[in-house]
Amino acid sequence: MSDKKDYGQYFQSTYEPDGNRKRPKTAEDVGYSQQEGKRRGKEEVMVVNFDPIPDELKCLGRERTYCIVTFGCQMNEHDSETIAGILEDMGYTATTNEREADVVLYNTCAIRENAEDRVFGHLGALKAVKLERPDMILGVCGCMSQDESVVNRILTTYQHVDLIFGTHNIHRLPILLRDAYYSKEMVVEVWAKEGDVIENMPKIREGGLKAWVNIIYGCDKFCTYCIVPYTRGKERSRLPEDVIAEVRELARQGYQEITLLGQNVNAYGKDLEDRDYLFGDLMDDISKIDIPRIRFTTSHPRDFDDHLVEVLAKGGNLVEHIHLPVQSGNTEVLRKMSRKYSREEYLELVDKIKRAIPNAVLTTDIIVGFPGETEEQFQDTLSLMEEVRYDSAYTFIYSPRHGTPAEGMEDDIPEEVKKERLQRLMSVVNRISREKNEALRGEIVEVLVEGESKNNPDVLSGRTRGNKLVHFVGPKDCIGKFVHVKITEPQTWALKGELMTRVEV
Ligand code: 5AD
Ligand code: SF4
Repeated sequence: MSDKKDYGQYFQSTYEPDGNRKRPKTAEDVGYSQQEGKRRGKEEVMVVNFDPIPDELKCLGRERTYCIVTFGCQMNEHDSETIAGILEDMGYTATTNEREADVVLYNTCAIRENAEDRVFGHLGALKAVKLERPDMILGVCGCMSQDESVVNRILTTYQHVDLIFGTHNIHRLPILLRDAYYSKEMVVEVWAKEGDVIENMPKIREGGLKAWVNIIYGCDKFCTYCIVPYTRGKERSRLPEDVIAEVRELARQGYQEITLLGQNVNAYGKDLEDRDYLFGDLMDDISKIDIPRIRFTTSHPRDFDDHLVEVLAKGGNLVEHIHLPVQSGNTEVLRKMSRKYSREEYLELVDKIKRAIPNAVLTTDIIVGFPGETEEQFQDTLSLMEEVRYDSAYTFIYSPRHGTPAEGMEDDIPEEVKKERLQRLMSVVNRISREKNEALRGEIVEVLVEGESKNNPDVLSGRTRGNKLVHFVGPKDCIGKFVHVKITEPQTWALKGELMTRVEV
């Protein structure tokens, strides 16, 4: 990486000024401060290149294996591809066996409490393995490591962990791993403040068919329930030329589908002060690249502008699936969530999208049981489901997150009521999914065949442009190709069909 910037100011080190290592006892001992994370500055973000890994670190992984266990969203999945790329450049080879690997990394998610509980479960279970094989390195990275209380809990209760690093420290992994090997102490490096945009990090992408490409990091929306702005830092867009070069290279390598990634892709470009170039412009440019399918996730309704709708309406390789998280159907709850739109404004946007893209497949995220949500307000969410008629939806019970504004809001809704609302919501969502899929009975859809079905090797599975899962019987050489399938048996979460023809896309 370039040395142009002084990282020292926000580098939390496990070293004393005299160069000796100290044993961190609390998160504060390692210079960690969540408050600092929340006071994100407006300092300039620089684009820097990932330096080649020095030769002396490249041999660390020789005859050693690694296993990354990933929790959470696609952003984390993609970060794990980068971590794998760095580890393989250091000579490590992949294994899926957590108990046998020489390096085990948990790439964690902090979005809800149950995601965190699962990680602590894994950490506890690996204690016996670590006692048997003290030479193994056990590391925790991802969003949980950005939370001071989590770091404290690991420092006090899970002392068999060797390494903790944050979401802005991935590029430092070779050095941190070396430190973890040569020290008996836990190595902790969590930059509370986001770093630069690091280009050209190595990546190991799975499958060769579908690839993720980051376009923007972080989130500036600060929805009151959400931990992401604190764990992922402020919005930093990659330069369009870097994104386009990466997509072109993936097309050259034969990838068939690209998903552009960001916590809020619609904010793309707003922070690029030297140019007037937004997400719609990027999509327009990417639509000209010779790759069959382009997707994106996740959208924020507030930033979904008319130009983007216009560009998406041109179709082509820009597929008609739009994931548009609504979170609640009630304007007052949306205000308390700080979503920055009303029910009516959201419905207007949906209407605009449906008029411009009549075959749009709309999906969403919904939270039930936000602090103080009344039965009437919840019913507004149900009625919005009926009005929009989403093809599918991810539904969640509100989970208080440490340090977020909603954590302090009065919440008098009993847990059973929240669970019951979730059930009622899911039954509406599932009924509508089923009805939307039923409408495809007898239709012929284009499917990108991904592989054998999970439950039956005789059946192949793939996805439509609208991201619907399709199962059909066909020859194995269809895998990796586009085919036409006639839908014969629509279900709630998948469509069964018959193979018609191959498609040249
Ligand atoms: N509790 C429950 N769900 C949440 N989400 C984000 N934060 C929380 C929380 N504290 C949901 C939102 C978001 C999705 C990725 O996770 O619906 O869109
Ligand atoms: Fe969280 Fe809101 Fe940002 Fe999405 S837009 S990551 S819900 S703060």
